[in-house]
Amino acid sequence: MIDLAFSILAAVFTNLGEQIATAEPGGGPVVHVDVMDGHFVPNITFGPPVVAALRKITKLPLDCHLMIEDPDRFIPDFAKAGANWVLVHQEVCRHLHRTLTGILEHGMQPAVVINPATPVETLEEVLGIVHHVLVMTVNPGFGGQSFIPRCVEKVRHLAALRAEMGLNFRIEVDGGIASDTVEEVVRAGADLLVAGSAIFQPGKTQENAQEFLKLARAAASEGALLV
Ligand code: DX5
Ligand code: ZN
Repeated sequence: MIDLAFSILAAVFTNLGEQIATAEPGGGPVVHVDVMDGHFVPNITFGPPVVAALRKITKLPLDCHLMIEDPDRFIPDFAKAGANWVLVHQEVCRHLHRTLTGILEHGMQPAVVINPATPVETLEEVLGIVHHVLVMTVNPGFGGQSFIPRCVEKVRHLAALRAEMGLNFRIEVDGGIASDTVEEVVRAGADLLVAGSAIFQPGKTQENAQEFLKLARAAASEGALLV
């Protein structure tokens, strides 16, 4: 199953409720929430209070991408705010297994993220306990950046590992995913697609989401035919 996780980083913040209500009927079943702390990444966005507000206006799963230095400290706050899936960066977790288990113990689904410079091998020991793995296809921090083609190989590698190990975690991609890149990542094995600027354009959000998913699902069924 191919799903769109629309990133509200590209939405109009003064009207998040309406923005989500428009993206959802376009086929976006997941809300991707980019939490940035100004330390791990050179940008600051929002935190648990905004997640709590989102919780009040949507029933969709909130996929919280923590681009923060010390995720352990904030896991209880995200749980309380109503986050469903919590993504932590491999690069900041000294005890990655402990952090992922902590997320699970707080009633949320754990997921792990790797930056473009981080190899897939660093995740092998935790693949059995994650709900999904996010392969960044840009360096995190900002929306609207250009896709880094080399990252596609890591998606392929992860998909092969998943089959080899008999696991069923999902593979997510994030950064520069749009009509010109989506088919390639889907063919490589990605099934959870984060997109921000490709989706949120005033007056076109629902249509963009529909078109985007159509392309992605067509690429997936082509892939299935080839197998
Ligand atoms: C970047 C964020 C992304 C961002 C993607 O650090 O993790 O989720 O919103 O934006 P686009 O789709 O515009 O590249
Ligand atoms: Zn993100």
